[in-house]
Amino acid sequence: MATKALKVNGKRVSITIDDPEMPLLYALRDNLALKGPRFGCGLAQCGSCTVHVDGKAVRSCVTPLSSIRAGQKVVTLEGLGTRQRPHPLQKAFIEEQAVQCGYCINGMIMESAAFLASNKNPTEAQIKQALANNLCRCGTHARIVRAVKRAANA
Ligand code: FES
Ligand code: FES
Repeated sequence: MATKALKVNGKRVSITIDDPEMPLLYALRDNLALKGPRFGCGLAQCGSCTVHVDGKAVRSCVTPLSSIRAGQKVVTLEGLGTRQRPHPLQKAFIEEQAVQCGYCINGMIMESAAFLASNKNPTEAQIKQALANNLCRCGTHARIVRAVKRAANA
């Protein structure tokens, strides 16, 4: 057993782990009960587990805990906004009703948030390119792209 210090959604936390190579996703969901990031493929192929580490979108299913330093800022969907003050992307996804089953939406929002932070006025083609590796089995892509555009214009 070992202790691992993390900074998640602005709070310093400490978790007890058996395996330092455990995926960050398991620590977030199982140790910290943050259910925004989803387990999809477990192979870095679908994007449903995406979180931010120091502002960059990373696939937490293949990010070993050992690679995260205590001072790095991990942000999950829960840390992006609140019910009272949702992030512009969260608001836009609701306004565009860009969700069917919802499984991919954590990844779509987290990937888009990191993308919009560096490209505030993207074209539709750039949005599609940014989300090209995030899979949605429900075929909600057109609404998702509209939601990202709406958030960019907000
Ligand atoms: S669950 Fe991580 S990319 Fe699919
Ligand atoms: S809304 Fe169902 S997988 Fe995207």
